[in-house]
Amino acid sequence: MKEPGLLVIENLDNHISKLTINRPSSLNALNTAVLHELAEILSHLTIKNESPKTRTKVLIITGAGEKSFIAGADIKEFETMKESSLQEYLVLAARVMSSISNFPAPTIAMVNGYCLGGGLELALSCDFIFAKESASFGFPEVELGLIPGFGGTQRVLSRMSISEAKKLIFGGHKIKAPEASELGLIDFLTKDELLFEETLKYANKLAEKAPLSLQASKRALQEHHITNFERGLPSEHREFAKVFFTDDSIEGRKAFIENRKPFFKGE
Ligand code: CAA
Repeated sequence: MKEPGLLVIENLDNHISKLTINRPSSLNALNTAVLHELAEILSHLTIKNESPKTRTKVLIITGAGEKSFIAGADIKEFETMKESSLQEYLVLAARVMSSISNFPAPTIAMVNGYCLGGGLELALSCDFIFAKESASFGFPEVELGLIPGFGGTQRVLSRMSISEAKKLIFGGHKIKAPEASELGLIDFLTKDELLFEETLKYANKLAEKAPLSLQASKRALQEHHITNFERGLPSEHREFAKVFFTDDSIEGRKAFIENRKPFFKGE
């Protein structure tokens, strides 16, 4: 059964849509139900984009509450997954991320707090990342005996060098938005209280442009990465599925749930 109201969609002026992931008690972690709803709404909005009357000219994605954009994949749900459900989950997540990347209008991740793991991967699937100064970013997967699994190892490379990406992915630490901005991981930094205002101002500027030109230039720009991405993504999925059932990954997830440091044996 679906939890009610996992996503909130608002139609703002000038054909700007705002999509909010609404699980604040879990810091908006992405579970299967949220991913299903995201897949459905993105497909619906994409179809509606064929008509100028129902078109979304800019899509803003954010998380509910003041504390978190998205704190990653739902680690607690991982505990229930067998090999087949893990594969289905990865395919679903890949579909959502590519629906965002290929959305036929500019997309903006409006980062209002923790942007970690799968949450950072979702933000990286957007065209632009706006963040409030106190937001933090990171790939904590190594602390869980995992790796990024929603395309993050591939998409992060369009924003930073491979050596900076290694520091972030191997380190598993969090960085604050100003540092993320210096590294090129995000596009725009705002004062905490101005996040929505500044994001909306930029979205309105984009909404004034010819929508078909934006769509066409986005398609052309995306093509540039396609060869590497198509080679890299299946490799990330294979590696994710390989580490997922190791003793270290089981230990990492158990340690998170028990709120303690993990002890990794390398097995
Ligand atoms: N999955 C499931 N539940 C999560 C969660 C997640 N990713 N992140 C936070 N929560 C839950 C917490 O368990 C807690 O629930 P309870 O109230 O029931 O205990 C609630 O959200 C609030 O979180 P905290 O009490 O931990 O809040 P905090 O302020 O002390 O810490 C935090 C915040 C540093 C973000 C911490 O919650 C945290 O480290 N979360 C996990 C982040 C993470 O490791 N993300 C990567 C997930 S793996 C992934 O994304 C892989 C992939 O690519 C597919």
